[in-house]
Amino acid sequence: MSSTERNIQAVKLPMDWAPDSWRSRTALQLPTYPDAAELEGVLDELRALPPLVTSWEILALKQQLAEAQEGKRFLLQGGDCAETFDACSSDVISNRLKVLLQMSLVLVHGMRKPVVRVGRFAGQYAKPRSADTETVDGVSLPSYRGDMVNAPAFTEAARRPDPRRMIKGHARSAMTMNFVRALIDGGFADLHHPEYWNLSWVGHSPLADEYRRMVNAIGDAVRFMETLSGSEVHNLNRVDFYTSHEALLLPYEESMTRQVPRHWGWFNLSTHFPWVGMRTAAVDGAHAEYFRGIRNPIALKVGPSVTADQLLRTIDLLNPEDEPGRLTFIHRMGATGIAEKLPPLLDAARRDGRRVLWVCDPMHGNTESTTNGYKTRRFRNIRSELEQAFELHAAAGTRLGGVHLELTGEDVTECLGGARELTESDLERAYKSTVDPRLNYEQALEVAMLIVRKQAQLGAPTSA
Ligand code: PEP
Ligand code: CO
Repeated sequence: MSSTERNIQAVKLPMDWAPDSWRSRTALQLPTYPDAAELEGVLDELRALPPLVTSWEILALKQQLAEAQEGKRFLLQGGDCAETFDACSSDVISNRLKVLLQMSLVLVHGMRKPVVRVGRFAGQYAKPRSADTETVDGVSLPSYRGDMVNAPAFTEAARRPDPRRMIKGHARSAMTMNFVRALIDGGFADLHHPEYWNLSWVGHSPLADEYRRMVNAIGDAVRFMETLSGSEVHNLNRVDFYTSHEALLLPYEESMTRQVPRHWGWFNLSTHFPWVGMRTAAVDGAHAEYFRGIRNPIALKVGPSVTADQLLRTIDLLNPEDEPGRLTFIHRMGATGIAEKLPPLLDAARRDGRRVLWVCDPMHGNTESTTNGYKTRRFRNIRSELEQAFELHAAAGTRLGGVHLELTGEDVTECLGGARELTESDLERAYKSTVDPRLNYEQALEVAMLIVRKQAQLGAPTSA
């Protein structure tokens, strides 16, 4: 045995895994590309393009997630349901960053612990769909699967899966990353200047006073510390921001899976923190096979049909070494299902002493259609699922370590309710999502405030 082989065995790299070993499994939710040779050509092109993130960043995030598992940090993960190529613009990117920064400020202030900030962006371009085809007036075409796959217009040309869209998606992701990195490095996230994060269209928000009071209190604390130390507190000038997306389109993910000179194993270098969606999370499926072999921290959506046994088998497969920071479960049960569905999963994981980070997605189990034909979510259901999640974790002796949200910094009316009490007739004013309804700025800020209140009410749990 060569010394390289010995090293690899010592760190338990799965020997029967390769970036393309998922191809021997059943892969759900993938498009059927009409031209296999064209697809392979595109994948070769992608393999030669530079990565979007580095292994150093990925391992730093894994460490932060390990700390979140211990209750020392809280994860805030949020962004669009799906990014679109058209919305890769300065305003959309910076407004989304502003909302996430404001939310994290509320969370840090209220929870007194650092927040891990992860965007659903710079690669969130592929979507699972409930049906492979869509039929309108007797015409059936492939479903729209996100801008990385095809286009939303209901024409044959638009709906044809086009592999070249992966190259464009890679480029758009790189532009988004580049702009976010430049903003952060340039001081956009500086706690000395929270006014940078104000959104011009907000006007007088019912939540503005509470938020302003927090900003002022933090400003006072910063000035007090600086007066005491006699110098500016520099580590408040920048924050870490990580990216995530649903790693659905496995050919793309495979092409971005690389080895690097200074770390062992394989990394998905298209994002820091990929997740598996609910529809593709089967333990014997292609997506689980792909995720088994990468060294990134990974997350899985957990829906109401998952059993305790399936959950434990998933942990065995994806984190056999019980590595800290490796595995996150994002539960999305719905406000009416969570009290019944979540506790058996929490009990099973706790009884077996499994190390996971539990995160609540209060969005995807609460989607409904209005009488006027909009896909929406009611703020009160989102709130209810989130509050129940905190209570159920406290009762089970586990810890809710984060939240996963669909939100935007744009002035949209897609979810009902919230501080401004949006009604069904408001949806017509600014419904922009091509897929799921997102929280707007005010509703997102309100979620951050209610998390803080709920946590304070329950007190910090004593065990993981
Ligand atoms: C999503 O996060 O946009 C999504 C499709 O979620 P889920 O897999 O939980 O349905
Ligand atoms: Co969604």
